[in-house]
Amino acid sequence: MNWSDIDTNAKKWTREAGERIRSSFSQELMIHTKTSPDDLVTNIDRDTEQFLIEKIRETYPDHQILGEEGLGDKLDKLDGTVWIIDPIDGTMNFVHQQRNFAISVAVYEDGIGKIGLIYDVVHDELYHAKPGEGAFLNDIRLPQLEEVEVEKAVIALNATWVTENKRIDPTILAPLIKRVRGTRSYGSAALEMAYVATGRIDAYITLRLSPWDFAAGLIMVQELGGKVTTLLGEPLNLLEQNSVFVSKPGLHEEISKDYLSKLK
Ligand code: IPD
Ligand code: CA
Ligand code: CA
Ligand code: CA
Repeated sequence: MNWSDIDTNAKKWTREAGERIRSSFSQELMIHTKTSPDDLVTNIDRDTEQFLIEKIRETYPDHQILGEEGLGDKLDKLDGTVWIIDPIDGTMNFVHQQRNFAISVAVYEDGIGKIGLIYDVVHDELYHAKPGEGAFLNDIRLPQLEEVEVEKAVIALNATWVTENKRIDPTILAPLIKRVRGTRSYGSAALEMAYVATGRIDAYITLRLSPWDFAAGLIMVQELGGKVTTLLGEPLNLLEQNSVFVSKPGLHEEISKDYLSKLK
């Protein structure tokens, strides 16, 4: 397998997909809802997934593709080379703000992460990681993540998880929010993971993500020494929805011990 070629192509196609999205801003958007009124999809989500899939299929007909909009393959195992794609992560932001969204592309081989790309289309910022070779923001190498205390941490977390909800007792995370320096919510899981990678935030906690939301970010954060697990501290399953806890080292252990252990 020529990983250098796959890497070059993945970056080229992701940037091209981003260019297409930027030029779509002048056109009228077709917005549909999926499972609920706040679960949005647009013609651009589908076009972008279709564009990336065509490129991959033309060059790598034996690779498998898992994409959010369902235009790829139906996978029940991760054997062989698998591309995991979220054509627009943060569709609500894309529709409402035309910013704060990203394309997320990951390539795995037999379940092992090989390439992680997160492209912030509006800022033209391509976050890129290859295990063993480092993680980069455009061409700038990102430093390894350093430990931080809870009191000095800025964490990303959606307000849903500290109000009444179906997935977590809101009193578990509320005391953490009081203790940290600050909280943020960007509305794109991929960007939130890229922000942990760059140190713009120190951790990200969410109760339900799909594989395409975290497949690239997982590779990136782990390459920099950060931790990515479920809220119970288990490894993420790339074929299912998971709760996701992404954090700098040290902070992960501290938040797990003081707060998330109450989930067990
Ligand atoms: C969503 C975003 C959002 C997260 C949701 C995801 P989408 O992805 O990542 O931040 O909270 O769980 O579904 O649908 O915009 O690709
Ligand atoms: Ca979606
Ligand atoms: Ca997503
Ligand atoms: Ca999406």
